[in-house]
Amino acid sequence: MQPQRILVIDGAQELEKLDECTKCRFGAPAALLVCYDRDVCWRRERYDGKASGEVDAAIVATHMMLAAASLGVGSTWVMHFDPAAVREQFALPEAYEPVALLVMGYPAPDALPSPMHAERLPEDKLVFWNTF
Ligand SMILES: Cc1cc2nc3c(=O)[nH]c(=O)nc-3n(C[C@H](O)[C@H](O)[C@H](O)COP(=O)(O)O)c2cc1C
Repeated sequence: MQPQRILVIDGAQELEKLDECTKCRFGAPAALLVCYDRDVCWRRERYDGKASGEVDAAIVATHMMLAAASLGVGSTWVMHFDPAAVREQFALPEAYEPVALLVMGYPAPDALPSPMHAERLPEDKLVFWNTF
């Protein structure tokens, strides 16, 4: 169904509007707002009616991050934005749900992963065999 709807945000005026919606732009010169259209996403109608839009948008956003990284462009997944402000500032159609904001830019040469980057829960907290 391809429900993803992606808004490219760049230019001083638009970035100023973005700063009204989140504190997490980190000076990035461009951002991609990955949304989905509630009216077109696939639904598990036969069972619980659950819609696939969040999953579809997350898959798209993840692959865009990987594609950007392959071009040397860094990105941060930002969920900490005010969805009502995003709707207003960027005139989102009512049926569009914003899922992920990817703030994009070339990393500084001395950029490092965050201090918690290597912290991982033990496998037995995450993976279960045949029963939880
Ligand atoms: C669902 C989700 C939401 C996130 N929201 C934010 C955010 O609002 N602001 C932010 O600075 N980083 C956000 N991040 C990015 C994380 O802070 C972190 O940089 C990223 O997950 C990479 O982590 P790692 O270096 O431990 O692998 C988010 C990540 C995920 C997966």
